[in-house]
Amino acid sequence: MKKGIFIVLLFCLLSAGGLMYHAVGEEYGASNFSAEGRKLQPAPEGHIPGKDNGAGTGTHNAGEDCGICHRPDGKASNHIFTISGTLYEDRAARKILKGAEVILQDVNGNVISMTSNEAGNFWTYTPIGSNPRAVANHGGPTIKLYSYDANGNLIPADPADSRTWQYKAWVRNGDRIIRMVTIAPVGGATDPASRMSCNMHHAGLGSRGGLWVSSKNTLPSYPSANLSFRKHILPIFKNKCVPCHIPGSTMTRPATESDIASPSTSVDYSKGLDLTSYAGSTVSDITKKGVRDLASPYQSNPDSSPILSMPVSLAVHPGGQFWTTTDADYKAVRQWIAEGTQNN
Ligand code: HEC
Ligand code: HEC
Repeated sequence: MKKGIFIVLLFCLLSAGGLMYHAVGEEYGASNFSAEGRKLQPAPEGHIPGKDNGAGTGTHNAGEDCGICHRPDGKASNHIFTISGTLYEDRAARKILKGAEVILQDVNGNVISMTSNEAGNFWTYTPIGSNPRAVANHGGPTIKLYSYDANGNLIPADPADSRTWQYKAWVRNGDRIIRMVTIAPVGGATDPASRMSCNMHHAGLGSRGGLWVSSKNTLPSYPSANLSFRKHILPIFKNKCVPCHIPGSTMTRPATESDIASPSTSVDYSKGLDLTSYAGSTVSDITKKGVRDLASPYQSNPDSSPILSMPVSLAVHPGGQFWTTTDADYKAVRQWIAEGTQNN
């Protein structure tokens, strides 16, 4: 690998969102590699799981930002990954998950597959495709990394700039898949050579919660009647529906030209729904519905509440499949709705 292009570790930046039912099963196409175009992309199939596992044992520093040391000027500058991180059983990152798969599909359609080791760690040196029309946005103004010449010909973004490296991500554990709803630009902050691992955002203390996939229920058990919103129901939504259905702005971060064009392909990945609140919220002039709003109309038929029915199926819920109708979490929410959706 050439020096200078190995850049980076990533952060599985939560990006896309939104529903596009007709996109289910749609074949990969670089032309729709935008937040909107990638929303319901199914996980790629047919590759060998773990084919991109990097060399080494790598059992140290689980949950830490690998990029602190694994960077050109860091303590482990002889091992510069393109992607690395730690996988967990649940979003709270209480327990690491061994032997599950992290799958990426980059902007060129290439599939990268890594399996987590006994420390939950995964990493790879496999290059990630660069989007010639990438834009960079790290909380400040959006910067175009491409330009056009006087004749209107594209001058593509520099493929060595890690901010142009884009992928979509899934984590798989047996038949359970959680999609990251991402069009993640790789790379850190404003510096094209800086590095972050997935753990920068997805770890116990990461801003997005652990990178997780398991079918475990939130609480060990629930009472069969008299469920409490505060004690039983809210923990479920906070465990599984954060960081998407939260208060305030949840627009995807622009990653490619079409995300900043007019109309933009950026999307609101909360769909105006704040599942961390009972009655909804208003933060910075953004008003969102709460749990009650999508539950109380369904007291006589809880299973049709979108709050229960959407997360049952990847085909309709781009945020992922979070339960089946026989899971204890599902049944607890169902019972609480049937009991009158009380704020108790
Ligand atoms: C990774 C992000 C993500 C997570 C986690 C997530 N969702 Fe979603 N959810 C979405 C996106 C994206 C949409 C669709 C927005 C659209 O239709 O454009 C959505 C839509 C919904 C809707 C439809 C809202 C409406 O008014 O149409 C419901 C209900 C919903 N989600 C419930 C849940 C529940 C319950 C959980 C947790 C068990 C959950 N979601 C977890 C991303 C997520
Ligand atoms: C505090 C610094 C630090 C952090 C954080 C760190 N590493 Fe390392 N890592 C090192 C050092 C030092 C080496 C040895 C480098 C050498 O061989 O000279 C190393 C080597 C490695 C190796 C190759 C040798 C081996 O042990 O197999 C792998 C793989 C690895 N690290 C994975 C990871 C992963 C994955 C993460 C994040 C979860 C991570 N590291 C976080 C310091 C760190």
